[in-house]
Amino acid sequence: MRVAILGCGQISPWHLESWQKIPGCKVVCVVDIAKNRALARQKEYNIDEISTDYNSVIARDDIDIIDVCLPTYLHRDAVIKAARAGKDVFCEKPMTRKLKDALEMYEVAKECKVKLQLGFVRRFSNDWLKMMELVQSGILGEKVIWRSCSANHGAPTTWFFQRDLGAGPFLDGAIHNYDFGNLMFGQVKSIKSDLLVVGKKGDAFDTGAIAIEYEKVIFYR
Ligand SMILES: NC(=O)c1ccc[n+]([C@@H]2O[C@H](COP(=O)([O-])OP(=O)(O)OC[C@H]3O[C@@H](n4cnc5c(N)ncnc54)[C@H](O)[C@@H]3O)[C@@H](O)[C@H]2O)c1
Repeated sequence: MRVAILGCGQISPWHLESWQKIPGCKVVCVVDIAKNRALARQKEYNIDEISTDYNSVIARDDIDIIDVCLPTYLHRDAVIKAARAGKDVFCEKPMTRKLKDALEMYEVAKECKVKLQLGFVRRFSNDWLKMMELVQSGILGEKVIWRSCSANHGAPTTWFFQRDLGAGPFLDGAIHNYDFGNLMFGQVKSIKSDLLVVGKKGDAFDTGAIAIEYEKVIFYR
């Protein structure tokens, strides 16, 4: 399988290293609008080709898989184009910022009969899966409260703290929690949130609390 990676930013080395471990897969092209970033990844990982134009790479017949490591606001466009071109797609989380767009991406992939997988890495991580096993075994009791606190600087990228581009840590980072909570606990019953913009890096919510109540506190017993 011949793979092209779109976006040569922070997350791309993790993808390049992972693809190298998959027998039968080869990253043949790395793409970035910033040519110097594509060149840097090409050199580090010994990649055959670079491009600055993801549209032309998606259109190529000799690429089987498109791996989308672009900023979140570009996921919808790249995924839909790749699916329509008949490519299987791996797309970084968050799938997109709007439910409407996520549903469209899902429907297009289904209609085009291509695979679409998202970068929800916790689903494949032994420590997170252990937590799920313990919760679902009932050993922690019938009702479980999972409290997750985090405080950090957020991503250094310019788009991360812009509401219309990355949507900040309550979408970009916390989506790992929402996804794993849904996997672990099942159907969501209600969501309460209290969110603020405190920092000066952008207009996305950066501070606050979200409480999610699930229909069944423990999914499996
Ligand atoms: N799974 C995880 O745990 C995890 C961790 C970090 C980031 N991510 C996600 O990965 C995605 C990328 O994040 P990142 O931190 O690598 O961002 P980044 O800003 O470091 O990298 C994005 C790259 O895309 C390039 N780019 C922008 N517009 C382009 C275009 N039109 N055509 C081609 N290239 C273009 C930029 O030049 C940049 O190099 C985001 O959706 C982010 O949320 C996931």
